[in-house]
Amino acid sequence: MPISVTPVSEVIGARISGVDLRNLDDTTMQQIHAAWVENFVIVIPGQTLSGAEQIAFTEWFGPRQQVRTIKLKRDEGTRDFMYVANKTVDGMEGVLPDGEMQFHTDQCYYENPARATILLAIEVPPEGGNTKFANAYAAYESLPAATKDRLRGLRALHVYDYQANATVKTNESAPDAPRWIHPVVIRHPETGREVLYVNRLMTDHIVGMGRGESDELLEELYEALENPDLCYEHVWTPGDLVMWDNLCTLHARTWFDPAEARVLRRTSVAGQPPDAAFAAAA
Ligand SMILES: [Fe+2]
Repeated sequence: MPISVTPVSEVIGARISGVDLRNLDDTTMQQIHAAWVENFVIVIPGQTLSGAEQIAFTEWFGPRQQVRTIKLKRDEGTRDFMYVANKTVDGMEGVLPDGEMQFHTDQCYYENPARATILLAIEVPPEGGNTKFANAYAAYESLPAATKDRLRGLRALHVYDYQANATVKTNESAPDAPRWIHPVVIRHPETGREVLYVNRLMTDHIVGMGRGESDELLEELYEALENPDLCYEHVWTPGDLVMWDNLCTLHARTWFDPAEARVLRRTSVAGQPPDAAFAAAA
């Protein structure tokens, strides 16, 4: 039976109903995959997956990416999922616990950022803690031609210090915080389209540019990316599974009362180093 796919905004995201992700077949998965590629973000309500079942769903899209955001103790080995949570769940301490979180893409500070991220809502606050998604294709297309020309061949350094600036940017990153340089405009591996690949939380500066000029140019790009007309804001309900394309979208979290529980289980699909959309500047 075909799945039902309904757009949630004019620019990004679709809701899929009529599926139980514990019982999938090839045909249904192909439809879900197509909906994801076409809409960049998919929302699938009413899911009750265990951790193992969520990993199995994640692997339909490619090899799973093990958790890298947190440093695990030697005896903890590796982890296939983590809880974005302000409480401990099944003996696992939650990470990225409270407050607003600025726009970002997951793991852009590594050579191979996650290809996709999947969150399953388990507990949500009565108000706030929403996730905003931005369409980075549309943001690039919205730029003036002169700005697009200026971006050709540019690269930016991304840094993330999970201890010092987990949710809001500061200039206090530890020297050993993970960091990587990527093109400012990347070419999406499936669509071949150009995508703006910088973000307010994790992008440090444009390589080879003075701090003032870099900050000014990045601010113009952030404003294009965070344009509310190009975003969808998801209000969570327990059981919502949301999956996003981590190369052509950005996401951010709105404030919520830290006294209220917020628990989501996160898995990721491993990715490749993003390709540059244009040749490097001379
Ligand atoms: Fe994130």
